[in-house]
Formats: sequence, C-alpha cells, structure tokens
Amino acid sequence: MLSSSDRVIMVSGANRGIGFATARLLAGAGYRLSLGVRDPASIDMADFEGETLVSKWDATDPDSSRAWAARTGERFGRIDGVVLNAGVVLRVGLEDDDDAAYNTMWQTNFMGPLRLARAAMPQLRKSGHGRVVNIVSISGKRLLTGSTLGYAASKFAAMALTHAIRQEGWDDNVRATSICPGLVDTDMVADVETPEGQFKIAPETIAETVAYALSLPNEAVVAEILINSRLEASL
Ligand SMILES: NC(=O)c1ccc[n+]([C@@H]2O[C@H](COP(=O)([O-])OP(=O)(O)OC[C@H]3O[C@@H](n4cnc5c(N)ncnc54)[C@H](OP(=O)(O)O)[C@@H]3O)[C@@H](O)[C@H]2O)c1
Repeated sequence: MLSSSDRVIMVSGANRGIGFATARLLAGAGYRLSLGVRDPASIDMADFEGETLVSKWDATDPDSSRAWAARTGERFGRIDGVVLNAGVVLRVGLEDDDDAAYNTMWQTNFMGPLRLARAAMPQLRKSGHGRVVNIVSISGKRLLTGSTLGYAASKFAAMALTHAIRQEGWDDNVRATSICPGLVDTDMVADVETPEGQFKIAPETIAETVAYALSLPNEAVVAEILINSRLEASL
C-alpha cells in the first residue's frame, strides 16, 4: 500500500473552514497537496509543511477544473485523491422566487464537484488507490423544512455524485465517500444559533474524518459517514 508521502491529494476550498482544517491535517500527515482556491493570495503557505501546490480554481467556471487537474498532474505526475469541499449555502426555500440563488448552489455544490471529479478521474484510475471524499452535508440526506430546499437539493445531487463515482470507479479501485455533517463551526453558519442540545462540530473533527476515509484500504469501502450535531429521530 502507498504511504501518505507517495500520495497526491487535491483539496478544493482549502483557504478556510473545513477545507483549511483538512489541508493542514493532511499536510501534517505527509501527503503532497494540490489546493484549489478562488484567490491564491488567501492561503498563507507558512501554514503548510511539505510539497504544496496552490492553484486558482472556481467551482462555477467550466474550464477551471480541467486546468487545475492538468496542473496537478504536470507538477506531481499523479493524483491519488480529491476532497470535494468547496461549497456555499444560500437560504432559499420552496416559495422563494430566487432562481439565481438556486443556480449558484447548483453550480457550486454540484457542477463544480462533478467537473473536478471528472477531470481527475483518469489519474485516480491510474493510482490504484484513488479516493474521492465528498463533503456533502446531512442536508443531503433529509429535509427538515422546505425553507432549506435550495441547499438540500444541491447536496442531494452531490450525494448522487459520490455514488456515481463509486459505481464507475469500482473496477479501478477508485473509492468514494460522502461525509455528511450537521452544523460545523465555520463562517458558513456563523449566524446560526445553536439551541440547547445542539452543537457545532469543530472543522478539525471533519478533517480527521476525511483523513480516515482516505486511509481505508481498497477492500474496506465506506460510502457515507453521517455526523450528527444534534439528536434526530432517524439519522
Ligand atoms: N459549516 C457547516 O455547518 C457545514 C455542514 C455540512 C456541510 N458543509 C459543507 O462543507 C463544505 C465546506 O464548508 P465550510 O463550512 O468550510 O464553509 P466556509 O468556511 O464558508 O468555506 C467555504 C469554502 O468554499 C469556497 N467556495 C465557495 N464558493 C466557491 C466557488 N465558486 N469556487 C471555489 N471555491 C468556493 C470558499 O472560498 P472563498 O474563501 O473564496 O469564498 C471557502 O474556501 C461545503 O461544501 C459545505 O456545504 C458545511
């Protein structure tokens, strides 16, 4: 089996929140990293040990994913894993007449990850141990209220992406895992109050879970990891 220092992992949205915590942890564990961010100046390289490439990447730009994957392949000669992390939440529900918000989430939370996975797939197949870890959400598993339809719809689609990668990549040992957290303590939900009995998960905890998913051998396949931050009836 490959050691972490032999593996090259791409992480999207690595400049803050869950992506930053994940990139930090993976760098500390010895992985070689290719980080995709909208603004490369928003990453302080002093935060990273080891060999790290930073590329400009925008989930909503159709050409961006191909360019980032190609750059990663040129620099390292391989891609062993992709962490589909970048995402956005806009609070639109069933009766909100705001197609633009729906489209932004569709592009960012589904089309961007789809294009990135597609661009990396040939290299992931060659790896022999290709991994895709998709930071979805517990909102990709259930809908608590119609007022979150926009985000949930994009994350249900993201779940489908994970399962498509699992199916299509199986014979070449490409494994895909969705991580589905409840509230995580990042900018994304800074304005959300947590009532008694509900918590915010530390981004470092999600990073540990990503590292776990990346570390599993080909024969131990985990499709979904649900991480609750409150008690729910059925999840
Ligand atoms: N926080 C939560 O409660 C929670 C719970 C479940 C799942 N998640 C999921 O976890 C992932 C990370 O979220 P987070 O909590 O770490 O949020 P965050 O702190 O708001 O960070 C979001 C990241 O996504 C990037 N991003 C947004 N739009 C982008 C675009 N068009 N192109 C490229 N990058 C883009 C941001 O880049 P900029 O800095 O350039 O904006 C930033 O790096 C998301 O997919 C989110 O849906 C979050």
